[in-house]
Amino acid sequence: MKRREFIKTGLAGGVLALTGGRFAAQEARMADARIEILLDEPIGRIAPEIYGHFVEHLGGVVYDGIWVGEDSKVPNVGGVRQAIVEAMKRIKASVIRWPGGCFADSYNWRDGVGPRKGRPRRPNFWIDAREWPKGAPDGPWKYDPNHFGTDEFLRFCQLSGAQPYLAANVRSLTARDFYEWVDYCNSPAGTTTLAEMRAAAGQPAPWNVRYWGVGNESWGCGGGFTPEEYAVEYRRFMEWVPRYGLNLAFIGSGPNSGDLSWSRRFFGRLAEKGGFGRMWGWGLHHYSWNVTGGRTNDWFEGKGDAVKYPREEWYELLSEANRMEKLITDHWAIMGEFDRQHRVKLLVDEWGAWYKPGSEVHNSHLLGQQATIRDSLLAGLTLDIFHRHADKVAMANIAQLVNCLQSLFLAHEDKFILTPTYHVFDMYAAHQGGQSIRTNVSSSPLKYTINNRPATMRGLNGSASLHDRRMVLTVTNPDPNASVETEVTIYGANVKEVNVTTLTAKDIHVHNDFDNPRAIEPQTSQAAAKGRALVYSFAPASVTRLQITLA
Ligand code: AHR
Repeated sequence: MKRREFIKTGLAGGVLALTGGRFAAQEARMADARIEILLDEPIGRIAPEIYGHFVEHLGGVVYDGIWVGEDSKVPNVGGVRQAIVEAMKRIKASVIRWPGGCFADSYNWRDGVGPRKGRPRRPNFWIDAREWPKGAPDGPWKYDPNHFGTDEFLRFCQLSGAQPYLAANVRSLTARDFYEWVDYCNSPAGTTTLAEMRAAAGQPAPWNVRYWGVGNESWGCGGGFTPEEYAVEYRRFMEWVPRYGLNLAFIGSGPNSGDLSWSRRFFGRLAEKGGFGRMWGWGLHHYSWNVTGGRTNDWFEGKGDAVKYPREEWYELLSEANRMEKLITDHWAIMGEFDRQHRVKLLVDEWGAWYKPGSEVHNSHLLGQQATIRDSLLAGLTLDIFHRHADKVAMANIAQLVNCLQSLFLAHEDKFILTPTYHVFDMYAAHQGGQSIRTNVSSSPLKYTINNRPATMRGLNGSASLHDRRMVLTVTNPDPNASVETEVTIYGANVKEVNVTTLTAKDIHVHNDFDNPRAIEPQTSQAAAKGRALVYSFAPASVTRLQITLA
């Protein structure tokens, strides 16, 4: 039987159709794609920590982005930009990683505690970066006054409803500095000298920080270690850390994208002494940046513009993001060679789009970039990949929260906007804590031309999760030209009602900015439905959430 005939047969017998949010009873018809949700094939619980964030002392992320100071005319809560706190609560922000990134391995946590007035000013790790926008002024982004330190960050997490994830300095501090930071954060009130210091800063009760990263990118800015050398450092840092009754979760500095040898050699060396040093997670980093279709692999030359991109760069960037699926399965397989029970989970503690400089909203925002509808597709398809691997991925942190790489917010002084990526986090929050369900998507690959050669990329894709009698299905359609009519079948249940939210734009370059902050935002519609299958037409260049009430 031909595919078309099969789809037609499958649709016969009373199917329900939704097109662009409109709903109608539909007789047998042909669809371009098919989604099958197999209720009896649960994959695993979608950890809310997959909806994690990342904040580094880099350009305008902390100073101007999050920290405006208590005396600022910008509405703030104890110095933290209030608009961000409120927006973070709306999307159920689960965890925030800090203080880096590369900055982490240059940071002495002691610089950022105690009375703010007495804290030292230090050159920032990024001070000599080649990407600084022209005329970037001196300021806290270059000479860090340490006004935003441990307590300020932990208070920001508390206000946002997120858990903290602290990344420790392995390159330029000692194991002792690390466990003393744990002491400062977690020792019970009145017990240690550092607990008293914390109390003097207004926090007598322990912060109870659970997630601790042991370095960052230890293969590069975090020390330039070989995997074997890092394994030795990792073991030394882990050998003794005070727990104070907490189930601490230690995170190893994992590979750069497809560097499988970093995973294999690190785990191999750890396994020699047996055990994995109480490791909870292994942090993979993957950025989508090379849009040249293989013309170059140069870190600077390979990047494209955040807004003014030719059509082939749309496809290339999203293809780079699609690599995430194989990265997860490849690194997971290697980890399993040593850790057969898969006790150690995979984290993706840095991911997102990285463009060339030029679209930042202020010249102090090093690595600041605009975000278009393309970024919302990237966010949606990546989160869908994490859901499809909910049994493996325990946490993920998009880089970075504000005024930087794939940001949820852009802010300068009193100006503040939500990016399309924020809207995806808002739409997808409905997945958090649900049971990821096997979802098979069949659709045609997209064809395009780059470097005068034909190329293809994956078309429609998505994921589904179950929450009692409610199913959340999210789907990205990366085709910028055509909507994709899709038959969605849920095996094992009938459909009662469908609530649709779509994020799309008529032009693939559309983005929000300070003058037009709502150029792109989600649209919602509702429909009653019944039966086992429905037909929905996914708009071109769109991210869609169907919330399906099951009968
Ligand atoms: O997110 C920007 C930088 O990218 C981080 O500091 C580093 O970890 C990565 O290379």
